[in-house]
Amino acid sequence: MVKYCQGMVVWLAAVGSVLSVQQAVPARAASPFVSDATPGQLPKTVAPLAYTIDLTPDLKRLSLRGHETVRIALAGPTDTLVLNQAGLTLASATVDGVAAHITQDEALQTATFQLPHPLTAGEHTLVVDYTGPIPQTPNGIYYNDYTDRAGQHRRMLVTQFEVADARRMFPGWDEPSFKAHFTLSVTLPDDLVPLSNMPVATAAPAGEGLRRTTFQPTPRMSTYLLALVAGDMASTAGRTEGTPVRTYAPAGQEKDGTYATQSAVKILPYYNSYFGVRYPLPKLDMIAIPGNYEAGAMENWGAITFIDDAVLYDPQQSAPSTKERVFLVVAHEMAHQWSGDLVTMAWWDDLWLNEGFATWMETRALDRFNPTWEIWPRQHEDRERAMAQDALPTTHPIQHPIHDISEASSAFDSISYQKGSQVIRMLESWLGKDTFRAGMRRYMKAHAYGNATSQDLWNALSAVSGRNVGVVARTFTEQPGIPLVQVARHCTAGRSVLTLRQERFTIHDPFPQPLTWQVPVVAGAPGVPSHRVVLGTDPATLSFPGCGQAITVNVGENGYYRAQYDALGLAALRTGFARLSPAERANVLGDQFALFEAGRASLAEYLSFVALLPTTGERSTAVWQEVVTHLLQIDRMERDTPSRAAFRAFARGVLAPAFTRLGWEEKKGEPLPEAMLRPQIIAALASLNGPDVITQGLTRFDAWQRHPDSLPSGLVGPVAGIAGQYGSSADFDALAHLLRQAPDTESKLRLYAALAHTHDPAQVEHAALLATDGSIPNGRIVRALAQLARESEQPEAVWQIVLARQATIRQRLTPGGQAMLLPAVAAQSNDPATGAALMADPASRASAGARQEARKAEDQIGQTVELTGRTHTAVAEWLATLAASPATAPEGMRVFLERLPPRSP
Ligand code: BES
Ligand code: ZN
Repeated sequence: MVKYCQGMVVWLAAVGSVLSVQQAVPARAASPFVSDATPGQLPKTVAPLAYTIDLTPDLKRLSLRGHETVRIALAGPTDTLVLNQAGLTLASATVDGVAAHITQDEALQTATFQLPHPLTAGEHTLVVDYTGPIPQTPNGIYYNDYTDRAGQHRRMLVTQFEVADARRMFPGWDEPSFKAHFTLSVTLPDDLVPLSNMPVATAAPAGEGLRRTTFQPTPRMSTYLLALVAGDMASTAGRTEGTPVRTYAPAGQEKDGTYATQSAVKILPYYNSYFGVRYPLPKLDMIAIPGNYEAGAMENWGAITFIDDAVLYDPQQSAPSTKERVFLVVAHEMAHQWSGDLVTMAWWDDLWLNEGFATWMETRALDRFNPTWEIWPRQHEDRERAMAQDALPTTHPIQHPIHDISEASSAFDSISYQKGSQVIRMLESWLGKDTFRAGMRRYMKAHAYGNATSQDLWNALSAVSGRNVGVVARTFTEQPGIPLVQVARHCTAGRSVLTLRQERFTIHDPFPQPLTWQVPVVAGAPGVPSHRVVLGTDPATLSFPGCGQAITVNVGENGYYRAQYDALGLAALRTGFARLSPAERANVLGDQFALFEAGRASLAEYLSFVALLPTTGERSTAVWQEVVTHLLQIDRMERDTPSRAAFRAFARGVLAPAFTRLGWEEKKGEPLPEAMLRPQIIAALASLNGPDVITQGLTRFDAWQRHPDSLPSGLVGPVAGIAGQYGSSADFDALAHLLRQAPDTESKLRLYAALAHTHDPAQVEHAALLATDGSIPNGRIVRALAQLARESEQPEAVWQIVLARQATIRQRLTPGGQAMLLPAVAAQSNDPATGAALMADPASRASAGARQEARKAEDQIGQTVELTGRTHTAVAEWLATLAASPATAPEGMRVFLERLPPRSP
């Protein structure tokens, strides 16, 4: 149900966010960018101006030789230079021709150059010769072995430097505020196509089948955005507003990049205009890395890299959702070409400026070019992801202190991405689209080729809007958590009068710190003009003509807050539900479920809204996705209960009309949201043990094995999933066989997801092996194991397997992946003992980031355990109410009430 794989985008726990507004605001938070005040490991007294890096990678011996010249500027006299390196062997270093004494610290990832005499303030030239390894783990400079479409074994050279791995390719000042120019040369076999941020300046034979390529110098940029890729690649090409755009793929697969190229050609002019600054580089390349890649994609300036399934789209083989995902990922990384690359966060504590903004902008771009894809209402899923993390005690503010690289890695979570994007969305809605864009243009212009902090953004938005934007925005970026707007309603003299108050919304938090926000609320009802108010500490009163209309206080779901209505308000929403917009229907459902999770409302209150859907002819994919997610969540918690079968009958009854409408067959020319919903409804009905869907699915799986063309691409996933869960052991073996043969990441992950549905303990064991034996890309192992734990409904068994084999599994993981391994699997459990075992494991103490991830997972388990207990009682009560008085049950539910088994004692 996740829109796209979130790469390293993980969910994170941060330490003690129980601070009041004043305390929660770090001293630096309200400051514009000033180099000296920027956090970081390296002294600010030495700054690199320009690097010239000459590399000779040996792809057979997997080693690297490098020679670099760096022009540096000294703020004052010094005889020591400290810079970053990791895993390199530095052979010599000179400054202005004078040899320096070299010491390396592998724990701190630094090198220190000690000079015999102090250097004067001003410019100097540093020259370093070094060697280093080229490993397979996908961070730093690494290699990727793959089999091409012609069956040939190939080797590719790849780099991935964010967060802090440029230091594995060259010694340097590897922090985002040390921007400099880079001129890169590389000597490689002449049958490989070398790609970097800039176009090739010169290329010449360098003996014995080798060629030396020099790229044009880059503009001033951060180290983490540098890229070098070389392989047997071919491209599709386009051009827009003078910028050549290419999508590179392993030769033979380049046609599958056509859709990405076309998308980028549309998006680039849109961004040129939106940001008010033209795309600053002479070309834009997008590069598909087959398999060995940890993130989903990386915004290297002018040379964006992607894992193949996030950029290649084959209309015959890819699922409909892949088409949307490719557009979103391309739009996201392209947004970074401005927000992130041209203007870069000063330090990782402002990571959300990069990621929250790009996440918001990808949605905006998709909506601009595909208005029928209903993307904004489907943002509901992102909002729920952010709020799920943000309600728990281990959440953290969007802006929070980052002390080291492990903490920086774990900042790539749903707070930086999804909450960040939702807060931007709310600010745009509050200030107005044109004003917000004017502020962005001002911000881009002011900080181009430089760095910025959140305060720089508030200043730009304040200047164009005439409002003090920081006063509102900072309550959302510098405090953790979610506001809850309480809505009391009464009717006087033919008018509805609403009184709004705020408090903090938390889940499973024994000691929540009360917090207050400045909440831009938009209240309205269908056909009635909206009221806007910034809700602070004092209650606000709004008055609408008429009584009984369905008034919501989050029109369009543009605001980052939850709402709780009183009985009168809820009754009106129930009556007028079908007339709300899809975003508002999803909003009311999402809030109602969360209120149950928080212990503030009954489950029956939520389910009575859900039970409306069969009667209202619901068509919105956003609304169905919202309901599917929560019905499946309840169903998982109902594992091993006597009421599960009856609950499943209820849930299937809710989904039945959607399935009747969509059917099994894709309809020519149907809107993409329908094509995306069909597999989700089928998979949900199968999970809920729907007999007809299971029988049909198994029949279709048989036919598909004999005739692979018999299934449309969108149904391969759910049909294979049905075989994985309900098929024979021969079916499971067939899936495992297909997985090993699968040529590309999309089909591998699709087949793995199917296998992960098995409930058979021996097959679970087998599937755990398949996750970690090279059958799927190493960068997807952690997610695959978490998926197996969840879908197999045997989280504790998978946890035990992973715990026992972690030493072997870790060999395939990057440091970031290692920090996530145990927490990602443990978080699927509903046994407190798993949480305790996680906290006790030495891996949970390996770094600050690992500790945060472990605490977050433990928090999640605690919440699930508590919620599961309440759910059992609540579901039994709900079913008893329905069975006892079917007449009171909402219309449309009676059909399946008859199927309810008698209540067990
Ligand atoms: N900058 C990130 C890639 C990244 C993530 C690097 C974590 C290092 C650590 C990139 O812009 C990104 O956000 N990628 C996402 C996909 C995106 C479309 C949400 C990813 O990798 O999942
Ligand atoms: Zn990003």
